Amino acid sequence: MNRVKVHLDKKTASSYEIYIGKDIIDRMGLLFTQKKWGGRYIILTDSIVLALYGARMQGALREIGLHVDMIDFPAGEASKDIRTALRIINQLMEMKADRTTALIALGGGVVGDLTGFVASIYMRGIPYIQVPTTLLAQVDSSIGGKTGIDLSTGKNVLGTFYQPKGVFIDLAFLKTLKLQELKNGLAEVVKYGIIDDPELFSTLEAMGKDIVNGNADLLEEIVTRSCRIKKAIVEIDETEQGVRRILNFGHTIGHAIETESNYAISHGDAVAMGMVASTILSERMQYLSAEDKERIIALIRAIGLPDRIPANLTSDGIFARMQGDKKKTGAILNFVLLKKIGVPFVTNGVPEQLLRAVIAGLKE
Ligand SMILES: NC(=O)c1ccc[n+]([C@@H]2O[C@H](COP(=O)([O-])OP(=O)(O)OC[C@H]3O[C@@H](n4cnc5c(N)ncnc54)[C@H](O)[C@@H]3O)[C@@H](O)[C@H]2O)c1
Ligand SMILES: [Zn+2]
Repeated sequence: MNRVKVHLDKKTASSYEIYIGKDIIDRMGLLFTQKKWGGRYIILTDSIVLALYGARMQGALREIGLHVDMIDFPAGEASKDIRTALRIINQLMEMKADRTTALIALGGGVVGDLTGFVASIYMRGIPYIQVPTTLLAQVDSSIGGKTGIDLSTGKNVLGTFYQPKGVFIDLAFLKTLKLQELKNGLAEVVKYGIIDDPELFSTLEAMGKDIVNGNADLLEEIVTRSCRIKKAIVEIDETEQGVRRILNFGHTIGHAIETESNYAISHGDAVAMGMVASTILSERMQYLSAEDKERIIALIRAIGLPDRIPANLTSDGIFARMQGDKKKTGAILNFVLLKKIGVPFVTNGVPEQLLRAVIAGLKE
């Protein structure tokens, strides 16, 4: 089992470890007993993960004598809402959960964000542990301490920064993941290669379309590298004041595409399109070489992620969404562009005409 330590804010109290390995559920329980994170534990999970892993997880923890209960809710983004959060809070009250109770988020990003949010506000904050089961959650959402729920007016409108006691990444969970879900995570992995790690980028190039067959050893390597990158960026900038912005590479355009499609386009596909657009933009503005641009687009294609924007989305529509992106500061769009693979930078404005032309040029 690999360990990656996350040091936050120079206070050891808020630092925690990320454990990465295969079939680590049993060892997880032993660590819980050693660390004494909670007097008792409550697993929060969604309906799909409950059916696949709920009993096994609860059984493994009970076997070593831990007091473990479980709360579940329907799978899907729709559960990341205030109603589900309140329902969980009421269930916690009924179960007499107190400040010594630790929550375990067993699931993808939806479960992680919702559990973290509830843990951060229940009785002014109780401990929680992340057990991410999607690739996206393992390489992205479980690390960094951002929690949140959606409102009808927007995604992640209510949220907190609240760090877990530990993150347990078991690669065995990925075996049951649907291809599209795997790709959602791979888009973020490609992003890490592009913004921070030319070696990871080369590894991905060498793996090509074999990545999606899910070779566990190779996946372990890329998941570990991805976690290190996200963790390093988060350590420098826990609350997204500066350097953490480079994690938004491909996301300003990607989010606009995702919302403009009414979420018919998955996050990974939208981010892939956004990364392609940002890459072309970087080349057109003469920051990035044509060779690096070609490598990036070729990798995105090889993995089976889209490099074109569907014809039914209008450039005007995408552009309008981008100007409404909550991550913008002031009137100028903060764009993450590239100087080369591994060297991103934040520019405080790109010429509107050029941006429109690049988006229009990518339409199918
Ligand atoms: N907090 C952050 O920093 C951060 C970062 C990125 C994304 N997010 C959030 O994460 C969410 C998306 O996360 P996600 O892509 O993991 O979605 P998800 O949690 O909805 O999981 C996707 C689907 O896979 C299923 N699933 C989970 N694990 C499985 C497994 N091992 N085998 C088979 N099926 C499994 C789930 O039930 C669900 O149907 C969004 O709400 C997004 O806002 C948060
Ligand atoms: Zn993303």
